Amino acid sequence: MENFEQLRTVKFYSGETTPLEMHKVRVVQKLNLLPIEERKESIFGAGFNTFLLQNKDVFLDMLTDSGTNAMSDNQVAAMSVADDSYAGSASYTKLEKAILDVFNQKYYLPVHQGRAAEHIISKTFCKLGTVVPMNYHFTTTKAHIEMMGSAVEEIYTDEALKIKSDFPFKGNMDINKLNKVIEKWGAENVAYIRFEAGTNLIGGQPFSMANLREVSAIAKAHNIMLLMDTSLINENLYFIKIREEGYQNMPIKDILHEMMSYTDFSYFSGRKVSCTRGGGICTNNHDIYMKMRDWVPLYEGFLTYGGMSVREIEAMAVGLNETLDFNVISHSPTFIKYLVDALDSKGIPVITPPGGLGCHLDAGQFLSHIPQAQYPAGALAAAMYICSGIRGMERGTISSVRDENGDDVLADVELLRLAFPRRVFTLSQIKYAEDRIQWLYDNRELVGGLEWTEEPPVLRFFVGKLKPIGDWVDKLVAKFRQDFGDSL
Ligand code: F0G
Repeated sequence: MENFEQLRTVKFYSGETTPLEMHKVRVVQKLNLLPIEERKESIFGAGFNTFLLQNKDVFLDMLTDSGTNAMSDNQVAAMSVADDSYAGSASYTKLEKAILDVFNQKYYLPVHQGRAAEHIISKTFCKLGTVVPMNYHFTTTKAHIEMMGSAVEEIYTDEALKIKSDFPFKGNMDINKLNKVIEKWGAENVAYIRFEAGTNLIGGQPFSMANLREVSAIAKAHNIMLLMDTSLINENLYFIKIREEGYQNMPIKDILHEMMSYTDFSYFSGRKVSCTRGGGICTNNHDIYMKMRDWVPLYEGFLTYGGMSVREIEAMAVGLNETLDFNVISHSPTFIKYLVDALDSKGIPVITPPGGLGCHLDAGQFLSHIPQAQYPAGALAAAMYICSGIRGMERGTISSVRDENGDDVLADVELLRLAFPRRVFTLSQIKYAEDRIQWLYDNRELVGGLEWTEEPPVLRFFVGKLKPIGDWVDKLVAKFRQDFGDSL
């Protein structure tokens, strides 16, 4: 009965489906919205790369949901009772208990963030001649696996890369492809199968319990380990609860425990899942734990802190428990749905169905007049900042690399990701984003392409600089002034 209560939503008399904040704001941070002329200066200063903007020049920071989420009052309170010690900290004991209660996992290795877990896992289990099949890669994950000489095989379903779809579980693995990959490489050469909850790079899309169960059975039959990346587990849990038959009345904790029962080990970025910093590797398998354990003091720090501050450890223990609260895990997806549905109903190209990480605009369609070699997703990110002060992240060809001949490898999709840090933005701020995206869409023909001025050879999207081709920025600013008068 208690859980039935949790699933009840607040209906509005007007009939509108409006997401409602189930928390109140008691600490605030002042925001600054520069006039468009100054935003233009800032984006030129940042080389048309939103990573290089100064936060003081940004109005809504939708670059990422990593380390930018709002903590609860209980998390902040817990930080003040932290037990500072190198070894045997009482704060660590609380976190271990939270890992057991929330994830039902006995063994835990702390690390300073998600990619540090990826480092230790791939160092332990990957080597030349092996493969890691996964539903989709994440940038740091793939880099760590490939650095150890292993290959990555993505075995997503045909729905995964479609921009417009109503398939509820785009993060699922294609079972036929999985069987073929195992056959091709031989089960003994599969280092492990990696399942990413809330699949980041395809739009924060979940997988279903049914698919996880099926993949787990295949893994077991071949004696292959199953690893789950639980960084985005909050929203995957939410989607299983509301979209998958049979889970509506199951407590969130039981859903999570069922998911974990199909895995051999898992890892997470605490910058996402617990609204803190840090991360960890969890397992119930003592052998798996022992294989990785001794790398932690070498790379991260002693086993009772793993590179995290004890204050973060306290907040993480509370934050993990809050993952079991429907109001906590539903906040981002319902706000994302609000924006995605609003844009979609106006014919503005966005990834559907709404996912759990952010709103992803399809720059390929939005700016279809810009050739891919002139980086439409980068141009859209810059234009979005210029017209709104909102900072998103380019997820297209700029985020990819050049081939051995120095040619650009054009990305599968050109996306602008507007991430939703958890419990950070209010509905009126999201409505502002919707309004400015609509304006930009109506004036899209004014936006032009970009070209490099400084292009680093590695991970160029982080610190590379570009400039606009032609004078499109001046035209966009002039049109903004014409339409908005002296508005910010
Ligand atoms: N796994 C997933 C699914 C992620 O989204 C991330 C980070 C990581 C692992 C790595 O964790 O950052 O703590 O080292 N995603 C961030 C993002 C960077 O902006 O999407 P980390």
